[in-house]
Order: sequence, then C-alpha cells, then structure tokens
Amino acid sequence: MTQTNGQTVQYLADYRPYPFVLSATRMTFDLKPTATRVRTALSLAPRDPGARQDLVLDGGKGVELLSLTIDGQAPDAAHVTRQDETLTIAAAALPPHPFLLETEVRIDPSANTAFEGLYISNGMFCTQCEAEGFRHITFYPDRPDVMATFHVTVVSDLPVLLSNGNPVGQSQGRAEWHDPWPKPSYLFALVAGDLVAVSDSFTTRSGRKVALNVWVRPGDQDRAGFAMESLIKSMKWDEDVYGREYDLDVFNIVAVDDFNMGAMENKGLNIFNSKLVLASPETATDGDYERIEAVIAHEYFHNWTGNRITCRDWFQLCLKEGLTVFRDQQFTSDMRSAAVKRIEDVQALRSRQFREDQGPLAHPPRPDRYEEINNFYTATVYEKGAEVIGMLKRLVGDDGYRRALDLYFDRHDGDAATIEDWLKVFEDATGRDLAQFKRWYTDAGTPPLTMAEDWRDGTLTLTFTQDTPPTPGQPEKLPRVIPIAVGLIGPNGDEVAPTQVLEMTEARQSFPFDGLGARPVVSALRGFSAPVMLSRPLDDATRAFLLAHDTDPFARWEAGRDLALSALTAAAQGQASSGDYVEAIGRLIADEDADPAFRALCLNLPGEEEIATRLSSAGITPDPDAIHGAREALARRIAEAHLDLLSRLYDDMTVAGPYRPDAADAARRSLRNAVLALLTRIDGGERAEILFGVAGNMTERMAALTALLRRGRGQAELAALHDQFADNRLVMDKWFAVQPMAAPPAQAAAMARALSQRKDFDWKNPNRFRALIGGLSANHAGFHAADGSGYDFTADWLMRMDAVNPQIAARMSTAFETWTRYDPGRRAKALAALERIAAVQGLSKNTREMVSRMIA
Ligand code: ARG
Ligand code: ZN
Repeated sequence: MTQTNGQTVQYLADYRPYPFVLSATRMTFDLKPTATRVRTALSLAPRDPGARQDLVLDGGKGVELLSLTIDGQAPDAAHVTRQDETLTIAAAALPPHPFLLETEVRIDPSANTAFEGLYISNGMFCTQCEAEGFRHITFYPDRPDVMATFHVTVVSDLPVLLSNGNPVGQSQGRAEWHDPWPKPSYLFALVAGDLVAVSDSFTTRSGRKVALNVWVRPGDQDRAGFAMESLIKSMKWDEDVYGREYDLDVFNIVAVDDFNMGAMENKGLNIFNSKLVLASPETATDGDYERIEAVIAHEYFHNWTGNRITCRDWFQLCLKEGLTVFRDQQFTSDMRSAAVKRIEDVQALRSRQFREDQGPLAHPPRPDRYEEINNFYTATVYEKGAEVIGMLKRLVGDDGYRRALDLYFDRHDGDAATIEDWLKVFEDATGRDLAQFKRWYTDAGTPPLTMAEDWRDGTLTLTFTQDTPPTPGQPEKLPRVIPIAVGLIGPNGDEVAPTQVLEMTEARQSFPFDGLGARPVVSALRGFSAPVMLSRPLDDATRAFLLAHDTDPFARWEAGRDLALSALTAAAQGQASSGDYVEAIGRLIADEDADPAFRALCLNLPGEEEIATRLSSAGITPDPDAIHGAREALARRIAEAHLDLLSRLYDDMTVAGPYRPDAADAARRSLRNAVLALLTRIDGGERAEILFGVAGNMTERMAALTALLRRGRGQAELAALHDQFADNRLVMDKWFAVQPMAAPPAQAAAMARALSQRKDFDWKNPNRFRALIGGLSANHAGFHAADGSGYDFTADWLMRMDAVNPQIAARMSTAFETWTRYDPGRRAKALAALERIAAVQGLSKNTREMVSRMIA
C-alpha cells in the first residue's frame, strides 16, 4: 500500500495470503431500523502457528464494537486497537492453535444511504456486500480469498426473513439459514421484509428438486412471471451447454427498489434492482424484457463462475465477470437471434468500452492497481473481459474451449483463482502457449488495426499492422495476438473463400490467398473477431457491395455502419457526402428476406457519441453541434428519399394479437419503431401521436413519445404517461430519462434542471438519479453544450450525491471521461466543472479517484 495525495493505492504485486484460516462463520442478526445488533462467531486458526501475527479485521466507521472475546475470554484492552477502517488484535492475545473469535456490534441500517452493507429500502432490510460492503456489517476479513461456511440466524418481526443457503429453521420472528458452500463475505446476503413470492420449481438433471422464488412487494406479483421463466431457462441452459447443475435446495431472487447496481449473485439469494425483475407489457419495453432475461441468467451463471470458483483478489474481477458476461451473451444468442445479439454487443462495446479506452480512465481488463475497487466495475472489466474470452474460444476452437472449461471447473472448484489459473487450464487442455495472449488481460487500449491489400497474378495478399497508442501508465505496448476472421466475396457476390481465422502475432504481418481467378472483395473481421479498430481503404461503392452480399451478418451490418459513418463524419466536417448510404439502405429495408431486427439495426443511424469517437480516433476534434446537425440531416434525407417504402413498411410491420416479448415480435416492433422515427420527421408526428394513443405496450408508447420529443412535441403524451403511472417508479424513471435525452440539445440542460426541482425527483433513489443525470449525458450535444450548462448541472448533482452515495456519484462522473477530446472552449468548461468537484471538502475516496484520474 502506498499513499498518493492522501489516498491508499492497492497493488496486485503486493498480494499476500491472509495469515489466518477461517473455516466457519456463525451470525445472529437482531434487526432494528436504527440499532441492529450483529453477533458473529469466527472459527479461526493461524495459517502458520509458528508465525505469531496480528489479526486484522476490516470494519467501517459505522460499526460499533460492543464486545469481543477469544475462546470466551475478553482480551486485555491494550491488545485490541480500533482504527478508522480496521480492528486489530495483537498477536500476543491470540492462541497458537484454532480459536473462536466472537464479537457483538451495533449498526444503523436506517442511516445507510450509500446502500453498501445492510440498509433499508422502502421498509425492507437488504444487503449489498460486493465488493467491500460486508465490513459495514461486522468486523471480518473482508476479502474474496477468505472463504467460510455460513450459519445465519435472523431475528425480526417482519414476515419474510432470508439469507444464503438452505433454510434450517423457521419460527415466528426468527429464521435460520445454513450455507454449506464455503464463500467469501462479498457473497453474503440478508433480506427481511413484507414480501410475496412467485414460486416454481426446477429438477436438476441429477434429480435434485429446487424450490424457486421471486420475491417482490405485495401487488407486484403479476410483474414477476417473466423473471421466473428466465430463471428456469437459465438453469436448463447451464446444464445443457456447460454441464453445470445447481447445488442447493432453494434459489431465491429478491427485487429491491434502491440498488446501486443491476443485480448481485449472492449464493442462493440473488438480489436485483427491481427494474431487472418487474415487467409487464404496459410498463416494460422489449429492451427491458431482453435485459431481464440476460441479467437473471448472468446472476444465475455466477453460481459456478464466481461462487463455486471465485476470485483470489479484486484485481481478478474479470475472471468472474468477463466469463459470466460471455456466458450470458451465449445464452441470449441461443434464446434469440445470434446475429442480432452479436451486433448489439459490439455496439455496446464500442459506445462504452472503446470510449473508456480512448480517454483518461483507460485500464486493462485486469488492472494492477486501484484506489477504490468499486470504480473498476467497468465496461473494460465486464464487456472487454468477455471479448477476450471470445477470442480465446476462436483461437482454441469450440472443442478446445469445452475441454478447457471442464478442466477449469474440475481443477478449481472451491478455489479463489487468478487469471494465471484461467490461462493455465487453456494451456493444459489445448497445448497452446498463451504467454503473448495474456497481454489482452494486462494491457489497456484498443489496438488500431490497418489492412492493406495487394493483388497480383491471382494472389491477394492482406497486410495487417497493429500499433496501440499509449494509455495512462502504459507508454509502450507490445504486439498482441489478434484473431482476424476473413472471408472473400467474388465480383458476382458469391462467396469464394469461407471464413478463416488468421492469427496475427507480429506488429506487421501478411497473409496471401492464392489461386484466385478474379480479384475478390474482402470481408474482414467477421463476427467482430477481435476488439480492435479496423481501418482499411474502402470506397463507398465497395461498402455498399458488402452490405448487399456479405454472408456474415456482422460484417454485412458493419459495411452499412461504415457507409453511414463515412457520410456522417464528412457532413460533421462540413463536407458533402455521397448518396451511397441512402440508396443502399433503401435496398436493404426493402429486402423482405432479411430479419426485421437486422434491418432495424441497419436503419438506426450511429449515435452522436459513436460519431464523435470515430472522428476523435481519426485525430479530428468532434464538434457536438455539427455532429447533431449532420445526423439530423441524414435521417431527414433517408426519410424523404424512401417515404413510400417507409410508409408501407410501417403498416406491414404492425404486430397483431396480444403483446409477446419474444424475439420475433420484438424484431418487428424494432423495425417499425425505427421507421416511425424517420416518418415523424415528415408527417409532423401524426403517426406517433396515433400510436401512442392506441398502443397497449410500453415499447411502442416509448418509441412514439421519443420520436415526438425529438421533434419538440409530445407534451400531451408526457402528461398522459404521468397521469397513468405516477405511482409506478419504473415507468416514472423512464419519464424522467426520456425528456433530457430526447430534448433538442440547446434546451437539454435547462430541462434537466427544471425536472430536478420537482418533488417527485427522489434523487437518493439510484434509478431516479441515473434516469435524470444519465438521461442528460446520453444527449451528446446537450451534455456537451458549448455554454457549459450540461457540465455545470451534472457537476452540481455529482457533488450533492457524493455526500450521500459515493458509488453512484463516482460511477456517473464517467459522463466526463471523454472531455479531453473536445475543443479548447469545452475543455476549459469541463475542466472547471471537474475541478469544482475535486475541491469539495470531504469528497469520497470513490469520486476523488475518478476525478483525479480524469484531471491528470
Ligand atoms: N457482481 C455483480 C454482477 O455483475 C455486480 C456487483 C457490483 N457491485 C458493486 N458495488 N460494484 O453481477
Ligand atoms: Zn456479474
């Protein structure tokens, strides 16, 4: 540990095993809103009985020690030292053999506004312990490599009392739970409240009958069915695809309204942000349904990748998160459309992770230092962590991947493992040397990859060059292994060479394709086979050719994307653009053989943020207003050019019958809604107003409302939505988010400010805060308004939130992570806003770390 500007930096290189072995943890909670008592008994033993070391337990400021004994005896007070974040018992007070350490502490859940540890949400007691929340509950070795069985007794008058593992005793006002699987403290959970369950069961393939419950507030039961269906599908899928069975008698999911993150994989007791559980056609969109299915799966899959095999330390976070995201992506591809899912994932990766990699917050999937671990639950750790596994699978093949995973589960069940352990199973199962591949885990930055073509005498030679620019703390980069999936398309549009994976290992490398009759068109980086930024000299006509003929759906979509981006980046710099994209998109949307979801993905123009990222990676300073104008103009041009086709498509894509959230119906709605957004530019909002009025489902109503707001209309619709759903928090979150997001940029910050003054802007609720503050930062030209109003508004609220909930403030501060790429005027205003935050007395460690990395 090193002090820099008063902060404590943790280094991967400093890892040491905990000097004590903890085998069993017994706890009793006497739950009271302002004064909960927690008794904890730890069965400890010195790891090396000869070594005589102090016992250091973590414990936050709010944990008040009432009593402490060792084997029933109170130690000499001089041997017990309370510091701000720890409790130390001197070696002299500890026996050289196994002993029982018992403590009693008092905590105040009602005062816990940071939602870390034990807190109260709408009268319900609940916990969030990852990463370091358990230390706000009791004194404990709060680190992932200390694993113990848990026996938990909950005493409370509330009707439903839950913890991890299996129920072993239930009586009036008291419940006992036993979790036989040794686990780290971050997987601990407790819930107590007035809850009702939607229940079902699942019989595992070896015949274990598991009771399943989704716990919600009374009245919400009719919105919990989809979550339950998703859980059952996930359990089955993990057995079928990974051979992984569930291992307890019960699996509980609880929906909580105040939650910092999406959801949490606590052993046998997953806790979810209610927006990722509750869904009905009237209140949730197709996107919400897809996300619920994916996150339920994600948390369930953690039971093996995260819980049975956990992380040795928090530097290894991507070991469980990258793998579990990869698994949930595979699951969604199997449940829905693999092509559509891949494109959506790449879009998300580019808009969040590439952006992170481009700026001052860039870090590798496995960082080697941090100040506050909660700041590293990032797109790089999660989504890039998953991409790295996708590359591994591409390099070793499906069979190799399966063998490596079997070995991983076999060898490391019950372990707290590392990235080295993970790579070793791939090496042992496949015989490959992964030393160079490991750079993907340790190096930050998105490699730019250029491709040049040379054609002569029937041989096409592709030459690739990689050269990653410096990122904070990593000035120099060595070449990485890049799997580049390539196919060749003949001049008549037929594929002349099917997909093959080229393995690039050098900084510059050539790959010849010979025996070709005519010069083919190269379809490169198929399936987005590596998270790189590919550039190649390609004219718009060839892009249009690939958009028409490529057999790889990702590469086909990418060709359209490049075509759109070439038009948009030209227009954003005041240059004229060709009509190629407008024409090509007309042919594609008229193609009735293409999946409507795919057509919708092609029709949705790249977002303003993505255009800015593209410009900036080409060394051009993005002008947010010009980008907004260019995008508006292109959308209008498409609408005008294809008015008849779009009108027909709008009618054809109507979905008949009752709402179903499945992929087929959702695909039609997505195409229809993309068309609506274009038509609203021409018809003055007529169709959108009608749709808002007649649609029974939230997907179409939100699409109609958004289209109207973007045209400066929609006030009556906003009012109607408010009247109907004032009592529904999740719908009201959408109501708060859509207004600043869809507002004309010049009005966005003022609108967000006005909304923030409303009584129902319950800003301490993380979802509500994210809706409004995140809604504004999703409006690229609005957040980056030249007068600095977006920056100022955001900074004001980050400072206010920091005093209450540091995790949320720190996370939302990433709105500023790209500030260095804009013009000097904007940079000065953004920097002033960041400096205003940095100057706050008593700023949290979380936000301080983020702001100082961004200013550095
Ligand atoms: N492990 C959880 C998940 O990805 C996320 C919890 C993160 N919590 C936090 N405070 N950073 O499924
Ligand atoms: Zn996770």
